[in-house]
Amino acid sequence: MGQTTRQIVLKRFIDGAPSPNDFEIVERTLPDLQEGEFLVRNILVSVDPGTRARLSGKPSYIPPLRLGDLVGAFSIGEIVESRHPKFAAGDLVALAEGWSEHLISKGRGFIRRITDRRLPLSAWLGVLGVSGMTAWFGLHRVAGIREGQTVVVTSAAGAVGSAAGQIARLNGCRVIGVAGGPDKCGWLTGAARFDAAIDYKAETDLEAAVRSAAPDGVDILFDNVGNHMIDRVIPSMNPNGVIVVSGQVAAYNTDDAPGLMNTRAFITHRLKMQGLVVFDDLPQWSEAERRMADHVAAGEIAWRDEITDGLESVPEAFAGLFRGENRGRRLARLAPDPFEAEMA
Ligand SMILES: NC(=O)c1ccc[n+]([C@@H]2O[C@H](COP(=O)([O-])OP(=O)(O)OC[C@H]3O[C@@H](n4cnc5c(N)ncnc54)[C@H](OP(=O)(O)O)[C@@H]3O)[C@@H](O)[C@H]2O)c1
Repeated sequence: MGQTTRQIVLKRFIDGAPSPNDFEIVERTLPDLQEGEFLVRNILVSVDPGTRARLSGKPSYIPPLRLGDLVGAFSIGEIVESRHPKFAAGDLVALAEGWSEHLISKGRGFIRRITDRRLPLSAWLGVLGVSGMTAWFGLHRVAGIREGQTVVVTSAAGAVGSAAGQIARLNGCRVIGVAGGPDKCGWLTGAARFDAAIDYKAETDLEAAVRSAAPDGVDILFDNVGNHMIDRVIPSMNPNGVIVVSGQVAAYNTDDAPGLMNTRAFITHRLKMQGLVVFDDLPQWSEAERRMADHVAAGEIAWRDEITDGLESVPEAFAGLFRGENRGRRLARLAPDPFEAEMA
């Protein structure tokens, strides 16, 4: 008899901002473990704005979910039973399966074994997980970041944005964050040591605010938000500047996202704009992860997460992302960390 578990599934297709009522928790019995599979008990699951792209029933860069499907997410869990030659019971792994208390994996696709326990497990779903790696590869591979450049980051107090700004700082760049509200901006120029932060909710003229924070122009824009932000930064871009399209959180809840207006600067200033899907960088992931882990363990990168309790807390935590409520990475704890339990 397979493992009984609880999962969050999509109850109705979402039109506009997500609500907890769009999801439901169901109990399911997982199939018996087959040769080449292992069973994971999830400890932490992630709450990501990017998940929204799959919840409208419309095609996106990954196929949309159907009603009743498990909602996708990243998680870290402990292997409780293994019939896989390369994974053993007791291993801690990060996976990209979904909001579920237990999962069966074939050990393929996105899967990371976590052995470095210098930092709390939650770091491996945030600053050292997909969020931090998106920042790392967006700046290193896509933008080709160089010392002395000026970098603007949007949704800068989020998990991806805060990592991006601090990687840029560690590369000797001047860093300006754009975020909503004085509390987030205070954290950026305080703990995260950005050179400047712009509270876009308080600014009546964001374009002028960017110009004033970056008097020598902007070399890299790392955008997590969408075209209306990009358009406000383009007039400050230096020749050969690069716009990294990491995410479009402002566009996920609408079919009517604005286009770009200031495109002439792509010619006059030889600008480049390129997106990324971080999983394209899996071959280089281990090296990037190791270097980021050293920075984080040395206290050179500040990060924060907000951890809620239980599967029940996830839908509300998800909806709150689109109201700007999160301070850093949102996660939910589904089970105790066995390592911390041992240390206690
Ligand atoms: N390309 C990839 O491979 C990849 C991988 C992972 C993540 N991503 C993307 O990276 C971006 C950041 O992810 P994250 O996990 O760190 O989340 P995040 O930035 O914390 O996202 C939530 C934040 O977005 C901002 N926001 C929400 N609605 C907004 C709106 N309408 N206009 C402006 N800002 C809004 C809010 O911050 P403020 O209060 O500051 O507005 C909110 O707190 C997301 O777009 C995600 O999809 C991309």
